[in-house]
Amino acid sequence: MILRKLKGGDVMKSLSIHLTDQCNNSCKFCVVDSHQGKPERVARNIIFKFLESNAGKGYESVNIHGGESTIVPEFFEILDKIKELGYPTVSLQTNARKLSDMDFAKEVASRNVDLFIVSVHGKDAEMHDYCTSIQGSFDEAIQGIKNVKSLGKKVRTNTVVCKQNYNYLVDIIDLVMDLGVDHVNISAIHPAGKAFKNFHEVTPRLTEIVPAVKNAVDRVVSRGVVVTLEGFPACVLRDYAKYMINWDEIHFKLLFHKIILKDYNEYMENETRKQGAPCQECVRKNKCGGVYKEYLHYYGWSEFSPLTEAELIGNK
Ligand SMILES: C[S@@+](CC[C@H](N)C(=O)[O-])C[C@H]1O[C@@H](n2cnc3c(N)ncnc32)[C@H](O)[C@@H]1O
Ligand code: SF4
Repeated sequence: MILRKLKGGDVMKSLSIHLTDQCNNSCKFCVVDSHQGKPERVARNIIFKFLESNAGKGYESVNIHGGESTIVPEFFEILDKIKELGYPTVSLQTNARKLSDMDFAKEVASRNVDLFIVSVHGKDAEMHDYCTSIQGSFDEAIQGIKNVKSLGKKVRTNTVVCKQNYNYLVDIIDLVMDLGVDHVNISAIHPAGKAFKNFHEVTPRLTEIVPAVKNAVDRVVSRGVVVTLEGFPACVLRDYAKYMINWDEIHFKLLFHKIILKDYNEYMENETRKQGAPCQECVRKNKCGGVYKEYLHYYGWSEFSPLTEAELIGNK
């Protein structure tokens, strides 16, 4: 997540903490396969040690995610620790349900959380709640966004494009822009976790959704809001590849359960995606990690063809 504009060549260092596998939603395409089972103890000591050992080493932000971090009993204690250790900012990836309670939103906002990255997957309650499997989750997410915006915080929404919502992306985008969000991100499904289990129910073919994604991008641009795309191979976007989020500008060190990944971006590129024959001729070869492995497992390579130099003019 981009918290500030970087001058050419600058790399921002950020810590990233997967706080829990648990969630109060149960999204049909959840990459984590988050669950609602019995309460899981946060490895508090491991989290504190990770934060302490990296303090004062130039990390400009801490990115918190899960599962759903806001339901973790030690959530505030962890935010306090981050503040106490002098990390400048926190970004929180959340379904925003708990933020619908204004008292809770105020408590979070007072603890250096400057950017709220909120998932909105439907244009209305019916569509969003179908995706999350929780009735009422849409109304809470919308109220959560309103609350944190009223507290002067930045909101970036994330919409995962699935079979259920791709024809309504412009409506979703209009909805969140009417709430005054600062940045709209649109993600291709990473078909891991629950998304792999439910692959055919939720995962559309990339070429099928691209026209809708382009329309949605145009809509955001026309309203002067920042827009980024995530998880799409550059060749399916063609001239819209310039909207891909630039992970070269940010370096993440990730704590996931007991594992520390020193370079999360490298891990995502090398372990979750694959390049194939069409990639060899592609001018974006070195900038595009390729296609998610699980996507290829079911749909194969037929949709992909190399990007040419001519197509890249004005599309750096
Ligand atoms: C796993 S969620 C955890 C944070 C929080 N519970 C939420 O849903 O926003 C982290 C981010 O991944 C996105 N996400 C979930 N499943 C995904 C998938 N299969 N592919 C791509 N992004 C996904 C969510 O929309 C969210 O922005
Ligand atoms: S995507 Fe987020 S809200 Fe949905 S089940 Fe996964 S962790 Fe929970």
